[in-house]
Amino acid sequence: MTLAPGPRGFKAIAALIAERRRSPLDLYLRLVRDYGDLVYFRIGSIGYALVNDPAAIRRVMQDNQANYPKGPGYERLRPVLGNGLLTSEGDLWRKQRKLAAPAFQPQKVAAACSEVVRLTGKMFAEWDARLAGSAHLDLAVEMNRVALNIAGHALLGSDPSPRSEEVRVALHDALKFSDGRGMVWLRLIDVLWPGRDRNRAFAIEKRLPTRANRRFQKSLETLDSVVLQIIEGRRKTGQYGTDLLGSFMLAHDEDDGARMTDAQLRDEVTTMLMGGHETTATALTWAWLLLGRNPASAARVCEEVDRVLGDRTPGFEDLARLEYTHHVFEEVIRYYPPLWRFTRQASAHDRVMGYDIPGGTVMIISPYIVHRNARYWNAPDTFDPERFAGAAAQARPRFAYIPFGAGPRACIATSFAFMEALTVLAMTARRYRFRLREEKPLELEAGITLRPRHGLAVEAARR
Ligand code: HEM
Repeated sequence: MTLAPGPRGFKAIAALIAERRRSPLDLYLRLVRDYGDLVYFRIGSIGYALVNDPAAIRRVMQDNQANYPKGPGYERLRPVLGNGLLTSEGDLWRKQRKLAAPAFQPQKVAAACSEVVRLTGKMFAEWDARLAGSAHLDLAVEMNRVALNIAGHALLGSDPSPRSEEVRVALHDALKFSDGRGMVWLRLIDVLWPGRDRNRAFAIEKRLPTRANRRFQKSLETLDSVVLQIIEGRRKTGQYGTDLLGSFMLAHDEDDGARMTDAQLRDEVTTMLMGGHETTATALTWAWLLLGRNPASAARVCEEVDRVLGDRTPGFEDLARLEYTHHVFEEVIRYYPPLWRFTRQASAHDRVMGYDIPGGTVMIISPYIVHRNARYWNAPDTFDPERFAGAAAQARPRFAYIPFGAGPRACIATSFAFMEALTVLAMTARRYRFRLREEKPLELEAGITLRPRHGLAVEAARR
């Protein structure tokens, strides 16, 4: 068996675990620098392969994807998202993906643009009222709020606003728990008893009366009550419509004609609320940070939105003309990909880049690291939207740029996310100027998503 190079031996692995705790981003960057584009190491009984080569990523995510289900990495999300589209596997995933796909077709995305415009305008009205007093905003919170409202309205046809702050905090807490101390037990179980039933272990652990557990339970209760309210609300009207929630609620099983259970509906709706707002919100937050640090790019965005939009609010057809702003957003999610890491687990032995991958290996793919591979990205630490224009962009291998994942499990909402982000960016840049306050040095918080640990404090003024 020829395994890829990587750290071996007790001391090297102990150092790796300590480094991972401090900064997984720095650890992964170091591993590919020291060992190359495929790195293999073991922690306890589990083998890991960090994959940084576009052709190898293609094999795992697309060409041989049947051998690489999502595996245990996603157990961290299951207590919150259950068996929704992001976490389910096999036949259930295939059936649900087919049901959800029509809601993300181009004409649906185009139609949703006016809703994004309306909700962004609503955010401006609140800002203007507040700016009269103080010009300080935390754009991480603001982007989170607007993205959650958009996910609620445009995808689920429901107004989460009466309880949106509660939902936003509950989603945030639940995500934090899934990412942090609450999952220590699951990690221990993995290392000490591979193959044990993690769900049972988690069910027991969850009942322990710790503060973190109580907070987590509370956030789950809040989420469940809001999500069931959304489902019940739609049921009461008897009008299901053709949006995402409508298609889920009207779907019949092809074999037995059964409708989706409330539990499955709950998982799908929670997945769309969570997946549909957290990623876009962090991407938008990074956009304001990077534009704030790159005034020449910010000036070009302003020039473009002024020229294309004049005094109008954008329509979907305007977005294609915001070419530079589009490249800015592509560069933002290259530089700081909101989902900075995903994993797969090899079901059976495979060979990748001439090395053996034993069955059971957890494959780590990190867009953050892949997007800094100097073989494919010139000066990767420089923010340069122009790299997405012209011939250089065409020449780059497809799998060197994976902010939305790749293969059959790639993000279902890529075009929705672009529509939403460009609309919010263009409208906001047209109306406001931001000055970064940068009172604390930037710290990257690499949890389930990659965000600025201390939010993004700015001073805002009307342009
Ligand atoms: C900038 C914004 C976004 C980014 C960077 C992003 C990124 C991703 C990535 C990387 C994956 C694949 C994860 C994996 O392979 O394990 C994914 C899957 C997914 N995303 Fe997004 N996403 C974004 C916006 C959205 C939005 C707006 C929604 C709205 C509903 C959404 C819903 C989903 C769902 C349901 C999946 C699972 C798809 C499946 O497995 O079939 N995402 N996303």
